[in-house]
Amino acid sequence: MSENENATPDADETPPVEASCSTDCFSENDPSIGTPRRNFVAEMMAAGVGALVGIVPATIGGLFFLDPLLRNGGKGEGDGFIETDLVLDALPADGTPVRYTVRDDLINAWNMFPDQPIGAAWLRRIQDQVLAFSTVCPHLGCDVEHRAGEGDFYCPCHTSAFDLDGKPLNAIPPRAMDTLEATVKDGRIWLKYETFRGATSEKVPV
Ligand code: FES
Repeated sequence: MSENENATPDADETPPVEASCSTDCFSENDPSIGTPRRNFVAEMMAAGVGALVGIVPATIGGLFFLDPLLRNGGKGEGDGFIETDLVLDALPADGTPVRYTVRDDLINAWNMFPDQPIGAAWLRRIQDQVLAFSTVCPHLGCDVEHRAGEGDFYCPCHTSAFDLDGKPLNAIPPRAMDTLEATVKDGRIWLKYETFRGATSEKVPV
């Protein structure tokens, strides 16, 4: 038998006794008690706050950038018509043209300039309807006048002339005056203002 086999174990080398723990082993102050549950709640709260912090600015930013697309484009009803401040009875019953400055809210990307002049129209009352023309000459874009004495429309730039129905009276303009859509609702005139390409025989919106 070797010297090592006869040696008695040293008291300091007594192996530790495995603790058999139940919940009684832990005190209330043991920081390990309940840690997983607290961590879960804390993580959920952090996730909720993080989601709010991320979603709210993202939503606001998205609405900001989509703002131009969400607008309906001024005072109209979404179909391009603008409500004028003219009532039908303001137009002469005999069909004499009245020049009207068209105003609308101008929207340039994220900027809006309310109630700005965007063009002009000649308006004629035909019974309970309105006949409207753009004042832009279809030749090269000058401003068409009404000549009361001549009973016509006239462009001084290159002497295009039109009758009161907008038909050319000479060969200078490439087409008739450009009509604009107009309607009357509850006595008030609504107008769809558009511009068209000049110097062409076709009426092409631009
Ligand atoms: S622009 Fe009107 S006639 Fe030329």
